[in-house]
Amino acid sequence: MRKKTKEIISIKETDVTIEREEMLEGTLEVNELIPRGVRQGDNMEWIVNMKDQFSQTMDPILRMYNAAMNETTARMEIIKDEFHFRKQRCPIHHIDTRLKSADSILGKLQKKDLDLTLSSACNNIYDIAGVRVVCPYVKDIYLVRERIMAQDDISIMEEKDYVQSPKRNGYRSLHLVIRIPVYFMGKKQMVPVELQIRTLAMDLWASLEHDLKYKSLHQECEIDFTAKLYECSRLIYQAEDEMEKINDLLED
Ligand code: GTP
Ligand code: MG
Repeated sequence: MRKKTKEIISIKETDVTIEREEMLEGTLEVNELIPRGVRQGDNMEWIVNMKDQFSQTMDPILRMYNAAMNETTARMEIIKDEFHFRKQRCPIHHIDTRLKSADSILGKLQKKDLDLTLSSACNNIYDIAGVRVVCPYVKDIYLVRERIMAQDDISIMEEKDYVQSPKRNGYRSLHLVIRIPVYFMGKKQMVPVELQIRTLAMDLWASLEHDLKYKSLHQECEIDFTAKLYECSRLIYQAEDEMEKINDLLED
């Protein structure tokens, strides 16, 4: 048995050696990796210059938003920790974060017909930093909201309650745009963060709907699934409501 293992290892080692030898003999075809139409991308001076321009302009701004996202997540983690310490059911199931890319910031500026400048982006786009808090039950959404409201260094810029007033397609979530203090490069700034608070059921529907919408857009699908998706949301929320009622009975 032991001998067999040794043999396999030695074959693998030989294979690796052959592959490496072949690579050393040949020429690397890197030009094929650069998309057609970006021929200047082959020029190293151009590449480094472009990279420098990005790190001197966009990078510090994205890092500031990233810091705001981390600050917000830390506040949520503290809420989680408090419930764990008190050995109580935690109102936060998990937290997701995402930072908008420079590409998609530009896309949003163009869509909204705004000035295509960094300052216009920072003063008009409030979801450059996004934090999504996913809760087990609907009542937890409002508990988390209450905890955020109680933090006196956070201000609320905008609130949209799609839980009480769902979108016509069935989308539900509580959206807050908060401003959170960030100390970055020797300066304190109140940085906007979009906070979406939703239940696991709302997250299930929104994630699948997002995926289906993306697929149907790319396939230029003719069928309208709106009614079907709305019906799915109704079924999911009905089940969620029943389960929350069971939980209420057990928690009382
Ligand atoms: P913005 O200026 O882009 O913020 O537009 P808005 O304020 O009209 O959008 P809103 O705040 O209502 O929603 C923004 C985010 O919520 C989106 O980026 C999605 O993450 C989420 N969202 C809103 N509506 C839907 C929906 O119908 N389906 C899904 N899956 N997500 C949605
Ligand atoms: Mg919005």
